Amino acid sequence: MSTPQPNGMNPSLLVDKDGIGWITFDDPGRKVNVLTEGVMTCFSELLGNVRNLVNEGRLHALVLRSGKGGFIAGADIAAIEAVLDPIEGAEASRSGQAIFGLLSTLGVPSIAAIHGICLGGGSEMALACSHRVASDSPRTQMGFPEVLLGILPAWGGTSRLPRLVGLGDSLDMLLTGRRVSASKARRMGLVDEIFPADLFREKVAVFAMERARSKAPPSGRRLPFLKGVMDRTRFVRKIVLSASRRRVQAQTGGHYPAPLKILDVLRRTLGRPLSAALKIEAEAAGELSASSVSKNLIHVFQLREEARKGKGVGDGTVQPGGVEYLGVVGAGVMGGGIAQLAAHRGINVRMKDIRQEAISSGLKHASKIFDKLVLRKKLQKQQAVRRMSLITGGIDYKGFGRLDLVVEAVVEKMEIKRIVLRETEEAVSRNCILATNTSSLSVDEMASSLSRPESFVGLHFFNPVHRMPLVEIVRGTQSGDHAIATAYALALSLGKVPVVTADGPGFLVNRILGPYMNEAGFLLADGASVDAIDRAAKRFGMPMGPLRLIDEVGIDVSRHAGQALYEALGGRLSPAPPLGALAESGRLGKKGGVGFYRYEGDREKGIDPDIYAVLSPTVPDARIMMDEREIQIRLVLAMVNEAARALDAGIVGRSSEVDLAMIMGTGFPPFRGGLLRFADAIHLRVVLRHLEELEERCGTRFAPADAIRRLAGSNHNFYQSFAG
Ligand SMILES: NC(=O)c1ccc[n+]([C@@H]2O[C@H](COP(=O)([O-])OP(=O)(O)OC[C@H]3O[C@@H](n4cnc5c(N)ncnc54)[C@H](O)[C@@H]3O)[C@@H](O)[C@H]2O)c1
Repeated sequence: MSTPQPNGMNPSLLVDKDGIGWITFDDPGRKVNVLTEGVMTCFSELLGNVRNLVNEGRLHALVLRSGKGGFIAGADIAAIEAVLDPIEGAEASRSGQAIFGLLSTLGVPSIAAIHGICLGGGSEMALACSHRVASDSPRTQMGFPEVLLGILPAWGGTSRLPRLVGLGDSLDMLLTGRRVSASKARRMGLVDEIFPADLFREKVAVFAMERARSKAPPSGRRLPFLKGVMDRTRFVRKIVLSASRRRVQAQTGGHYPAPLKILDVLRRTLGRPLSAALKIEAEAAGELSASSVSKNLIHVFQLREEARKGKGVGDGTVQPGGVEYLGVVGAGVMGGGIAQLAAHRGINVRMKDIRQEAISSGLKHASKIFDKLVLRKKLQKQQAVRRMSLITGGIDYKGFGRLDLVVEAVVEKMEIKRIVLRETEEAVSRNCILATNTSSLSVDEMASSLSRPESFVGLHFFNPVHRMPLVEIVRGTQSGDHAIATAYALALSLGKVPVVTADGPGFLVNRILGPYMNEAGFLLADGASVDAIDRAAKRFGMPMGPLRLIDEVGIDVSRHAGQALYEALGGRLSPAPPLGALAESGRLGKKGGVGFYRYEGDREKGIDPDIYAVLSPTVPDARIMMDEREIQIRLVLAMVNEAARALDAGIVGRSSEVDLAMIMGTGFPPFRGGLLRFADAIHLRVVLRHLEELEERCGTRFAPADAIRRLAGSNHNFYQSFAG
């Protein structure tokens, strides 16, 4: 090897005796490689050196590789976040494009050797090479997650990808941000070869030598004939792009500009020279990177990362316990779901119930979820069978002695829970952590029946367990750090986003949702229609309207939760009369086939035409036209107001925790950056003015929370004041 680089330089170049140049990315300060400004500058200089060596006839092929377990995780998100205006954003895009332009015109073959994760800027770098090879490791994946951050691949990726793999596959990757495995990448032509991970470096060296020896110009792969013809036909392109646009519009309600902009760029650039395409790509990138939606999505990404890297406790020295054996007491909807999720992640599960039939139905519930995964090709049949076999169950405490953590998920009754927890504590070892999945009862009250309250926490999964990303870890007054850290680590290992809350009515998410759902009831009482209420919430960006949500949760469950909040928090949560009337009617919502809407099995069949007769006399005879903004303001400010109270009550310490929990637990629209970030954006003085006006018009339930008065008065916002 020759031309060594100074130690610690990232990336670095070595040229071997065969004249193959190896550029290695290995950031000494990070776990993964990131294309920061410094790395890109260094890379650009190295490409200058490479070009000189090529001209001198001393370098015949270039390999890009990583010195870490993954290839390149992407560009520097902090740099994207810092972009404030479109001109600056476009300029940043053009400088990246220029560097990858050097890479694509070296005059010798360039090979991206991809082992491990390759995302965003890393994938764009690979696209600028003449060849791409990947290892067969299951960790090797390629993707363009830019759209998830409200931007587009702007270092040539949006332009180069369709030219390499065709429009169809590009749309899938660019619009969804979905990653593909090495074999999928090979099938779509994104990589040329796959090599065994354990012989990767050797195989790459042989591949590079062969390419170096080949007299053919180092042009990469061409699109297969049929794909090429289709993509070159303007008419076909137009049909494909318009269909995609309609789909995106329907899925996002037009709230997310990035996928629409990507379609726009493709429409304007396909069939044109690459240089023209790159210009358009850079301008589009400038607009998107300076947009508030992109800033909000980046903010949400950072909140998730923070949660993923956290431990759930302030003391960094606390070590969480591992959970290899999990107990679940109560094999109902939640117990079955928790058992399935844990087994899916390779954890042994022991379920306990008081009835053998409940165990059978819990097992059936878990098995059904596995079947769906097999049906959707997310899992092979044998894998599903193997994972399902990790779950056993019975009506006694057999096997509880070896458990690391037990989740109690029996009926929502304090007395029963206390008895069950006491029994469980006697059956497990002293090291075992106990947790309750209660959604409304006091963790502290349960703890008072235990002899080791320091090993007891709340572990609040949401329904359906396998789909809802949030888990609230409830810290009782006596819960110890070790128990919290263990529950937190378990939630992470189950693929969930944990948020630690204090004990209190409804914990965090249900407490904030309570006034929101209740307000939907008051809107009905004021004459708004079911359709108008749910449509307004959806147009704000919620995944479903509050009345449809009540049906989904179950009218009985939601009434029970609403009542509990009312008893704990008082008058402002006094149940709206139409919701009481609905509960009295005996309707159950989706699970019973009818609520505000009608259902056939899992499918919603529209608003029930008899609903207003059922709600009578709590709603007026005739519906009124209520302004959509009025509905949105009432629904959203009801949540903001309660969130402010929850912060003052110390349920969580930081605004960012409220925002993460609401996005992950209720689907609060990520493009708004979170509930409190949204409130901050409209300004707390404006929020206060609206609340005062609503209090006058609608009643004391809108009385502004102290925190809002305080912050608005001192010209502060949530994020400044509740920063933790
Ligand atoms: N269903 C939801 O949407 C949801 C969401 C979050 C949290 N939760 C909470 O999860 C818990 C369970 O709810 P679920 O919906 O699964 O209830 P469920 O009625 O479906 O299941 C409860 C199970 O507990 C069993 N059980 C009752 N007494 C028992 C005892 N002494 N020992 C062992 N098992 C016993 C019952 O036989 C039943 O199988 C509740 O605390 C609930 O508040 C429910």
